[in-house]
Amino acid sequence: MAIRMFDCIQNKKLGHELSLEEIEYIIQGYLDGTIPDYQVSSLLMAICFSGMTNEETKGLTYTMAFSGDSVDLSEFGELTCDKHSTGGVGDKTSLIVGPVVSALGGKLAKMSGRGLGHTGGTIDKLESIPNYKTTLPRDEFIKQTRKIGISLISQSGNICPADKKLYALRDVTATVDSIPLIVSSIMSKKIAAGSKNIVLDVKVGSGAFMKTYDDALELAREMVKIGKICERNVSAVISDMNTPLGKNIGNSLEVIEAVDVLKGNIDNDLGKVSVVLAAELVRMFKKISMDDAIKEVLKVILNGKAFEKMQEWVAAQGGDINVLLDTSKFDEAKYRKDLIAEDDGYIASMNSEIIGNTSVMLGAGRAKLGDKIDYSAGIVLHKKTGDKVKTGDILCSFYTNNDEMLEPASDKYMTSLKFSNTKPSKEKLIQAIVR
Ligand code: URA
Repeated sequence: MAIRMFDCIQNKKLGHELSLEEIEYIIQGYLDGTIPDYQVSSLLMAICFSGMTNEETKGLTYTMAFSGDSVDLSEFGELTCDKHSTGGVGDKTSLIVGPVVSALGGKLAKMSGRGLGHTGGTIDKLESIPNYKTTLPRDEFIKQTRKIGISLISQSGNICPADKKLYALRDVTATVDSIPLIVSSIMSKKIAAGSKNIVLDVKVGSGAFMKTYDDALELAREMVKIGKICERNVSAVISDMNTPLGKNIGNSLEVIEAVDVLKGNIDNDLGKVSVVLAAELVRMFKKISMDDAIKEVLKVILNGKAFEKMQEWVAAQGGDINVLLDTSKFDEAKYRKDLIAEDDGYIASMNSEIIGNTSVMLGAGRAKLGDKIDYSAGIVLHKKTGDKVKTGDILCSFYTNNDEMLEPASDKYMTSLKFSNTKPSKEKLIQAIVR
């Protein structure tokens, strides 16, 4: 019997399983325009309520993964590594994990995204390095990976076109927050990108997609399960995003902080999360224990090999490494404003989403697709959750080239903070690792 979209929607509404043929029919029809947005929206909403079985999620992941180009990394065998973060504020771990993993012999041919909304994106951060090329022809992308072990470019136009189209529809039909839809969206891109070893950084908290630990754990488990079914080594690190990661938020500010970690300053939240993420990949491709992987990661950070690798990589992509060797050479924003504490106490909590949006107001991100970014704009956090604050202390510093935004951004930032008179307990930085 011929498949009809109406029946697919009706069956999903009633909680029945879609067959692989039906999933392929839906994706193909949506891509070629024979199935309209309104029917796909209706199906997406039915999925939000009825969920999907493992079989359906796997079918959707594979169908989307092969809806466009995929990257062939088979020449690198088991050494290929990829990383994905579900999105956060101040999250510059890819700039650290990439060079660490390739300094240890891994092959990281990675495609990353841009920031949207309150979260940042690796490609925008890299573009703050003068002349860094975020696009490379496919053969150069592979050649550079072969030669130096790492290339990092923006996602090519035709990787997972089905996800691109579906994601845009989900965004405007309130159907983003469905675990099987998120799993298939993220994992289809990772499958198409071709790496054998994948570490997922699942953020949880006020600045993350997943606001609760239980939701983050479910997402992590589902992604790991689908990755394994698709014959990839996958692990998911659930890490705190109630507080922004590290001290700097904003593009060149985040590159500066990543360089600082690669120069050995690892005893901080950013250093700790980056070491665990990198070690997960090293553990997978070297087939060693996590303890040994952590030792190897620490070794290449502390002996400078990872920072050398970062320079080699940035230079290979045309970037000016002088700004890495001396980060004061980055263009500085024209205006700086310090926010001052008016009382004694402790920072009880921060709302990372509000802080991310404040940094967008200063020019560090886009309010909408296509907006221009001010690479030097952002926020340096001097006090974070759990810190003691005395009247007159600097809470944070704003950097921007648009002084008109300083006042509204200050008001917004202050709404993100809660103070207390007693020392608050902090969220655990790494809450779980799902393998
Ligand atoms: N990131 C993605 O790539 N897809 C989703 O569905 C959610 C977050």
